Amino acid sequence: MPGDAVTGAASEGWARVCAAGSLAERGDGVRFDIATRGGTIPAFVLRIDGRPMAWLNQCAHVPVELDWTPGRFLDDTGTVIVCATHGAVYDASDGSCVGGPCRGKSLQAVPCREAGEWIEVQATVVKGER
Ligand code: FES
Repeated sequence: MPGDAVTGAASEGWARVCAAGSLAERGDGVRFDIATRGGTIPAFVLRIDGRPMAWLNQCAHVPVELDWTPGRFLDDTGTVIVCATHGAVYDASDGSCVGGPCRGKSLQAVPCREAGEWIEVQATVVKGER
């Protein structure tokens, strides 16, 4: 996993996930958890076309984690996210399913931004990289 992850609120409604410099263009993602009343939900962030993009780490077919190995979401072209379980293919620029058993569905986006030296997501509580 690249870089260091940080836990904590950066500003109202936003929480730091990792250092911005640790998120390489179309490289491995940074995994993190979002705490909810019902427990934690796994999520991840990638850098696509210079922008951080975050989604819940749950396939739209069956809600299992997507990555092949921790943080490895993209195929070799770096253009699509491929589910490790049954091979659903998601457009990495918007999270829409473009192939496989969840065609027409989409990954659930998590509001995300780059704020100075940090990647932040809009979530009440975020646990750092895992
Ligand atoms: S669980 Fe992802 S394609 Fe079936």
